[in-house]
Amino acid sequence: MAHTIAVFGAGYVGLIQAVALHSLGNKVYLVDVDEERLALIRNRKAPIFEKGLDAMLASANFDTFIPTSDAKTSIENANVLFICVGTPSEGTSQDTRALEAVSKTIGTHLDSFKVVVVKSTVLPGTTQDIVGKTIETTSGLNAGEDFGLAMNPEFLREGTALQDFFHGDRTVIGVEDERSKTILSEIYDLKESTHFCSIKEAELVKYASNSFLALKISFANEIGNLCKRLDLDAYRVLQLTGKDSRIGEKFLESGIGYGGSCFPKDVAALIGLYEREGLPLRTINAAHEANEHQHERLIGIIKKSHDLRGAKVGVLGLAFKRGTDDTRASPAIRTIRSLLKEGAKITAFDPQAMDRAKAELDIAYAKSGQEIIDGNDLIVILTDWPEFEKLDYRQKPVFLGRKLNVKGEGITW
Ligand code: NAD
Ligand code: UGA
Repeated sequence: MAHTIAVFGAGYVGLIQAVALHSLGNKVYLVDVDEERLALIRNRKAPIFEKGLDAMLASANFDTFIPTSDAKTSIENANVLFICVGTPSEGTSQDTRALEAVSKTIGTHLDSFKVVVVKSTVLPGTTQDIVGKTIETTSGLNAGEDFGLAMNPEFLREGTALQDFFHGDRTVIGVEDERSKTILSEIYDLKESTHFCSIKEAELVKYASNSFLALKISFANEIGNLCKRLDLDAYRVLQLTGKDSRIGEKFLESGIGYGGSCFPKDVAALIGLYEREGLPLRTINAAHEANEHQHERLIGIIKKSHDLRGAKVGVLGLAFKRGTDDTRASPAIRTIRSLLKEGAKITAFDPQAMDRAKAELDIAYAKSGQEIIDGNDLIVILTDWPEFEKLDYRQKPVFLGRKLNVKGEGITW
């Protein structure tokens, strides 16, 4: 059954949620405060690089897919409101200002029963204590009676976001009133595996998932470090380890560590929650600690054979992983900063992430991967873009922080 939906926040999560729900026949208002971003979307240009998104925007029907800054009209017309704004960490606490702003806006214009669904990653209690309470205070209405409240954590990965929306492993919906549950079941009736739980449980599932994956990667990195020392094939060891279905083969790729807008931020927020609760969190703290230092191993490996002071180093890759233009908390950027501290002269290239990197890193940039190789003495690969495998490395020394089929010395291989 088609619904009229408003999605707040046209970032990685909101934009995907909006185009995907629109493609399923729903009328969707995509609400953002960033007019520049909205203008791009109205011109059918994706403001982020994401596989399949341009095609979805190209075929969108703008009578029923409405990118807008008009929150009032969107709220009045929609019966389901998804909140997808950012929740960055401030150290180990969560910045909920955007969430509060949207909640106030919703409360101001709420005029009948609608379901408010938090998709942003939020600590247990936030949906009810911040979003629900703010809407109640602003509107004078009661959550669970006059409007519905739910928490639907997002599990998409950048680079495969649309694939994850349509074929994700599971949909988790924290909801405590029947009316909202029915409406959300209709919206997600395409999903093979939808699970309902309490709102706070849904909030914690998201942190447990991201922290577990972060833990798995740090574990893989430390096993990888040992493999390198013992001259063993880290990828074979971990692949065979993962053949045990209790362990699983995914997320055991060792390299310079995890980055992106979520794992580091969500791990930090969970650490903060444990601190406030007075509980020890030794496992996740260790994963975080290991991740902070993993990239240093690559610098150490390079320094064994090369003097970095004054060396012309060409870097391939700036994004936090292949398939995205996102450089938030990118291990590539962190590694470049360490290389700069060692005195290296860096020129970098990334097929998608150059503009974002330029905003945070004042170094030289090349126009192509081949230019990087031709113009530098030493090549360091920091993002696993498959196209880097097709370059001619001209027998120059290559060091890899991410696994690719390129001849050179890897961080754990
Ligand atoms: P983002 O920074 O890419 O996008 C957030 C958007 O919200 C921006 O376009 C911003 O202009 C807009 N915004 C801010 N205030 C607003 C307001 N008052 N009204 C309307 N729009 C407003 O963020 P993101 O990466 O999409 O992440 C959003 C949330 O989803 C975060 O909590 C994040 O942890 C979570 N999440 C992200 C991913 C991911 O892959 N990026 C995956 C799962 C969960
Ligand atoms: C991650 C989760 O995979 C999503 O389920 C979640 O929704 C999202 O965070 C989020 O909450 O934002 P994403 O950050 O897009 O998705 O990317 P991942 O593919 O998980 O990779 C994260 C980082 O870990 C990257 O730097 C990647 O290179 C690294 N990684 C991943 C490894 O080093 N090894 C691996 O085996 C897998």
